[in-house]
Amino acid sequence: MIRRPVAAPPPPETAQPNVFPLDWPEGDPITHQLFKLAKREAWDAEELPWDELRTANLSKEERLGIGYWFSMLGIFDAAAPPVFAHALIEMYKAHEEDGVRKCFSTILRDELNHEEVCRWGTQLTLPGAPVGPLRWTPVTALEKAAHSNIAWGYYNGGRYWNGYVDAHKKYPLEVLFTSFLMGEIAATTLFSEMGRAAKLPLFQQLFKNVSKDESRHARMALYLCQRSFPGMSREQKAFVTKQLRAGFIFLSLILFKPFPGKFWELPAGFSENHALLQDAAAAGGLGILPEGAREAAWRAAMLRVKGTMEKFDIEFPAMPEVGLVGREIAVEDLDGMIPVF
Ligand SMILES: [Fe+2]
Ligand SMILES: [Fe+2]
Repeated sequence: MIRRPVAAPPPPETAQPNVFPLDWPEGDPITHQLFKLAKREAWDAEELPWDELRTANLSKEERLGIGYWFSMLGIFDAAAPPVFAHALIEMYKAHEEDGVRKCFSTILRDELNHEEVCRWGTQLTLPGAPVGPLRWTPVTALEKAAHSNIAWGYYNGGRYWNGYVDAHKKYPLEVLFTSFLMGEIAATTLFSEMGRAAKLPLFQQLFKNVSKDESRHARMALYLCQRSFPGMSREQKAFVTKQLRAGFIFLSLILFKPFPGKFWELPAGFSENHALLQDAAAAGGLGILPEGAREAAWRAAMLRVKGTMEKFDIEFPAMPEVGLVGREIAVEDLDGMIPVF
């Protein structure tokens, strides 16, 4: 007996937009190249030679300083996986290009790796090998200063998340992700210089890996900017200028220096203690650059971003802290501004 297919009626219309883009059209070649590169450059935080840190001949203060610095980095990097996971879902909903979706899934994976680095970097250095940067009891004055600063950083991190989720409701993804470019370019520059300045081979390798990831993220961010900038309205461009300023203040805490104010709610003494602990970490060989070198690295990174912005007729904000002139942005103008890094 010959079996024949049955003619079925078409299904009801699938409501659009929905979260399932059931297609993979060829997109811009750069997106596929970056996805391939991400797979080739994949690394595992667990495989780094952590024993070097475990057995390193460090003073109590140096060890604490290093643990403090990784705790602060964790304030940023532990927030990154959910930030990119959220963005990834939004991209699927928006039926974003296949290559872009794929790259964002690798960025999510990279950030998970960076978070893992913070886990090892804190557990091997903070007193009592705690399971988290706040899960230990400080005893000495320096330990108390470290614990308090980490707690303040974490408090600010919690405020960031609520703002980020709200911002998704207010702004299109490509507008929201402009500060992403500056964050990634700054991170690429700063981490690669830290890798060169670090004493322990563990830290040299670690920062080299992170910097490589950030540079791939920067290339993806640049692609998104180049795609979306030409079609942006005046208001959207003005918003980008503010985003860049907010991104600078946001990331400065870890990669430059803290700017306490409306954006970073920090107590008196925070900056002094931060500098003290950071110096201890530098003495322990973490690769933290002297302030002048951090400033120069930021200026160089921001000049690159400025060039891209000006090509698309987007004003760059003034960044007097690193000697750059531009559009003055008042602190009040940064209300509700959520930089993505
Ligand atoms: Fe990262
Ligand atoms: Fe990144």
